Amino acid sequence: MEPQFVVPLPLLFLITFWLLLANHGNAESNTYIVHMDKSLMPQVFASHHDWYESTIHSINLATASDPSEQQPQKLVYTYDDAMHGFSAVLSSEELDTLKSTNGFVTAYPDRSATIDTTHTFEFLSLDSPNGLWNASNFGEGVIVGLIDSGIWPESDSFKDDGMSRSIPSKWKGTCEPGQDFNTSMCNFKLIGARYFNKGVKAANPQITIRMNSARDTQGHGSHTSSTVAGNYVNGASFFGYAKGVARGIAPRARLAMYKVLWDEGRQASDVLAGMDQAIADGVDVISISLGFDSVPLYEDPVAIAAFAAMEKGVLVSSSAGNEGPRLGTLHNGIPWVLTVAAGTIDRTFGSLILGNGKTIVGWTLFPANSIVQNFPLIYNKTISACNSIQKLTEVASRGIVICDATDLVSVFKQIDAITAASVVGAVFISEDPQLLETGRLFSPSIVISPSDAPSVIKYAKSVETPFASIKFQQTFVGTKPAPAAAYYTSRGPSSSYPGILKPDVMAPGSNVLAAFVPNKPAARIGTNVFLSSDYNFLSGTSMACPHASGVAALLKAAHPDWSAAAIRSALVTTANPFDNTQNPIRDNGNPLQYASPLTMGAGEIDPNRALDPGFIYDATPQDYVNLLCALGYTSNQILTITRSKSYVCASNPSSDINYPSFIVLYSNKTSSKVQAFRRTVTNVGDGAATYKVKVTQPKGTMVKVSPETLTFGYKHEKKSYSVIIKYTRNKKENISFGDIVWVEDGGARTIRSPIVVAPSEIEL
Ligand SMILES: *[C@@H]1O[C@H](CO)[C@@H](O)[C@H](O)[C@H]1NC(C)=O
Ligand SMILES: *[C@@H]1O[C@H](CO)[C@@H](O)[C@H](O)[C@H]1NC(C)=O
Ligand SMILES: *[C@@H]1O[C@H](CO)[C@@H](O)[C@H](O)[C@H]1NC(C)=O
Ligand SMILES: *[C@@H]1O[C@H](CO)[C@@H](O)[C@H](O)[C@H]1NC(C)=O
Ligand SMILES: *[C@@H]1O[C@H](CO)[C@@H](O)[C@H](O)[C@H]1NC(C)=O
Repeated sequence: MEPQFVVPLPLLFLITFWLLLANHGNAESNTYIVHMDKSLMPQVFASHHDWYESTIHSINLATASDPSEQQPQKLVYTYDDAMHGFSAVLSSEELDTLKSTNGFVTAYPDRSATIDTTHTFEFLSLDSPNGLWNASNFGEGVIVGLIDSGIWPESDSFKDDGMSRSIPSKWKGTCEPGQDFNTSMCNFKLIGARYFNKGVKAANPQITIRMNSARDTQGHGSHTSSTVAGNYVNGASFFGYAKGVARGIAPRARLAMYKVLWDEGRQASDVLAGMDQAIADGVDVISISLGFDSVPLYEDPVAIAAFAAMEKGVLVSSSAGNEGPRLGTLHNGIPWVLTVAAGTIDRTFGSLILGNGKTIVGWTLFPANSIVQNFPLIYNKTISACNSIQKLTEVASRGIVICDATDLVSVFKQIDAITAASVVGAVFISEDPQLLETGRLFSPSIVISPSDAPSVIKYAKSVETPFASIKFQQTFVGTKPAPAAAYYTSRGPSSSYPGILKPDVMAPGSNVLAAFVPNKPAARIGTNVFLSSDYNFLSGTSMACPHASGVAALLKAAHPDWSAAAIRSALVTTANPFDNTQNPIRDNGNPLQYASPLTMGAGEIDPNRALDPGFIYDATPQDYVNLLCALGYTSNQILTITRSKSYVCASNPSSDINYPSFIVLYSNKTSSKVQAFRRTVTNVGDGAATYKVKVTQPKGTMVKVSPETLTFGYKHEKKSYSVIIKYTRNKKENISFGDIVWVEDGGARTIRSPIVVAPSEIEL
């Protein structure tokens, strides 16, 4: 299947970011992240911090031309939980000296993160208050750490009404004061807030930080935080759209913000510092909606810090990225984290009512209750391409213009022309997912589907004085089909390790409604009227990730003894590959096709089923180390991730990690491939249970599972099975997929693992 590359919309708010990032400051010195072997720390040092400081100090002396010259402060951060080492501003000469220092492991330049929001949009509320919500007491007792752009503490979503007054005793974090932020802004919901920008400052020494505190200036962190664990807010909406009770997925969980994304930049060293602190503070789940593109695991701050988190049983939930629909674009494809893809929601807004009484549900988020009632409906071939501002201006006050010819003129151009001409009303005809998932309308107008267009045009042509109305601020739920994979969601395989299926699961990401900051525009009318809103629609895998993080928090509350791998396994094996028409989930990035596991992993998360998955695929830190060994990583590269030499490679390490999914990569040079897998599963059901296998073979494969029955006698019992997948190349099918489903005998549980077969030549 030849992926079709869709050029994303201009990312208005992100452009300023990139301009700032292009400015890299001091040409001679750079910030480096330096890993040290803490077991070699001389005993004279009281702490790792003293050791690193002394190391930097002696390097300064060794490399300074005049030893009496006062050297500027070079140490940026010291790290002790996420990794062992520090970040520092070093010249290449100093770096060379450092490399021969006792305890040095590796060093690499600081780099900048990619943030995973594409644009603006909505929210899916978890509207079935049984099952997981009940079993987890809505996330009571769990702390979620967000690595993000800060938080707007005054938002109603972060009030602590109804929160228990006893913060879990393991909590060691603080509420750090700063610009426009003081300690009384934290409460029993927002229990911690800290900020990390030494890396940004080191990369741009002349820069002034506009908001030097944990306060959010971008809206991203407030949005993700309220999606994970926002409190109940009555009547939240975006200018009347999606009005209702806003709430996070885990409304009783606590939040801790670690601000690492800045208007002035976003550096790996700051991300590491935030994650390091979150682990030390005692969070249960880390939600991180950003990533680093095309970096090996041993230089990826998310991978490095997440390993330390995983050792402590902390699940790191991360976003897959917004670089789809091209294959191989995914980031955070890290074997020990949860990687989340984005999908659509069953919701649309607004309708068109024709003079003949016919109502057509469409799509608009025009941010006002504009009265476009009983206006003439204009279908005039001379202007209907809606690409001439001049011609449109002539008819602007006359009525509602129908735009067509979207095969010749892009709907985005039409929207701009209609906006510029200040037309009373307009009807656009499009089903472009870029528009419906990440677009906005700036004039009183509505988008209808091409399948509804003929009846509208026919009506406009058939009567002498056709007229119509557009209804705004209406919300329709239950639209079909939903979910679909978002066009922008980044696709696997993972460049950091293609041998495991990534992403893991999909969650709502397009048009998510959640808390926003009031100091940044949330909407625009015409070309120059900007409006703010306390709640905003945003779209991206950044919005999908916190949904999964929230569910992980609920699972942690319901099953405090589950490992990070167990939580991920429960999410994967219970995910739903079908949409609300009971057909396989479609791929908005490749219209007319079903979403492959490289796009959505196992499917849409299904929180209530994840509560009771039957059995889980567990993995220990040593299992991941064996994987790194099997990948041929050097001992230094492994030490960079594990921090500890107490891990040793197994004698015959296998790259076949105990993962709840299967991927076979074949070379297009060969005509067939055989791959064997072994899996060990742990019964987490309450007692005895028997499962029988049901296989759907991907096209071109023979899949053999043995044994075909797994019988458990008691809770926590382990059983193993093996899988052999034989693929014979079929010229027509490049990517094929199926699954292995374990069906409970006389019970309701089904435990599903997706299988995907893909060419290894996908350009990563
Ligand atoms: C499979 O890949 C080949 C080569 O890239 C391409 O020409 C063909 O169209 C693809 N087939 C499908 C079904 O996508
Ligand atoms: C949770 O479930 C228990 C037992 O089924 C029930 O008694 C209780 O009312 C439920 N609580 C909520 C909040 O639904
Ligand atoms: C924190 O700031 C708020 C709002 O500016 C103010 O009302 C409050 O008194 C401050 N608290 C402290 C401890 O400074
Ligand atoms: C269609 O629009 C053109 C350009 O404004 C105008 O000259 C023409 O009269 C219109 N036709 C009708 C039928 O209204
Ligand atoms: C195999 O994949 C490579 C890389 O995409 C491509 O250049 C080559 O043409 C492919 N070969 C065949 C036989 O399809």
